[in-house]
Amino acid sequence: APNISVAAVQADLNQLQSIATANGGNRAHGRPGYLASVNWVKSKLDAAGFVTRVQSFTNGGATGYNLIADWPGGDPNDIVMLGSHLDSVTAGPGINDNGSGSASNLEVALAVKATGFKPTKHLRFGWWGAEERGLIGSTFYVNSLPAAEKSKIKAYLNFDMTGSPNPGYFVYSASGQPSGSLKLQQTLQAGFTALNVQTELTSVGGRSDHAAFARAGIPIGGTFTGAEGTKTSAQAAKWGGTAGQAYDRCYHRSCDTTANINATALDRNADVIAHALWTTAA
Ligand code: PHE
Ligand code: ZN
Ligand code: ZN
Ligand code: ZN
Repeated sequence: APNISVAAVQADLNQLQSIATANGGNRAHGRPGYLASVNWVKSKLDAAGFVTRVQSFTNGGATGYNLIADWPGGDPNDIVMLGSHLDSVTAGPGINDNGSGSASNLEVALAVKATGFKPTKHLRFGWWGAEERGLIGSTFYVNSLPAAEKSKIKAYLNFDMTGSPNPGYFVYSASGQPSGSLKLQQTLQAGFTALNVQTELTSVGGRSDHAAFARAGIPIGGTFTGAEGTKTSAQAAKWGGTAGQAYDRCYHRSCDTTANINATALDRNADVIAHALWTTAA
């Protein structure tokens, strides 16, 4: 798997920050910064040769958008999907939540093109709208798929908050939530082990977009660097950072800017995403 350039992920985060700043300070559902974010990600994918589509839905009286990108080729009956929500809360620009996962998935997608990866399986990427309003976009997408299309998605990997400033290194627990995949869990753990990073398992339950896929019986996995929870002293001993403080003190706040990112966590997670995609789809 390629080593994803953290500088490229950070450049994408700068772009998302600029989009928020130019649009009233956020990238929230129903606000202009959200559609601008979609259009910007879409343009990068289109230029790389992805087949993209924007799926619209309505929530709270406003139109929302999912961006779906397919990489041509691979077994159409054996799809590996990566996803992340692209919307922020209204309070701020949402750079860790969830510019981080969105930009990392984007750079992993672009690396497919750049490296000439020829996966056995078909690759699909999703950027979800209105996650912050109750997993609306991802749920709409899954519900929009006929049963035959749902059953072609053999794995869904979710990345929501991968650059927390006081990071933990959490992998979604296969046994801790519906449709958790032990294989995906172990693949993600192996990615961190290759970087000499210790991980903990976490049960994120229904707190992010994997939940819609899980409900449809699709095997799921993901990584997470923590939100409002507090880092313990044992965690600070193995991961560094500050015990007794939140993983992300700017969670859902106006200070979730490009300053609210730990570049090491961002880089490690991007590299682990690439490792997981290359391993799962080869
Ligand atoms: N989905 C939550 C949010 O966007 C954050 C979160 C991500 C929680 C992953 C748990 C696991 O606010
Ligand atoms: Zn890297
Ligand atoms: Zn959030
Ligand atoms: Zn989130």
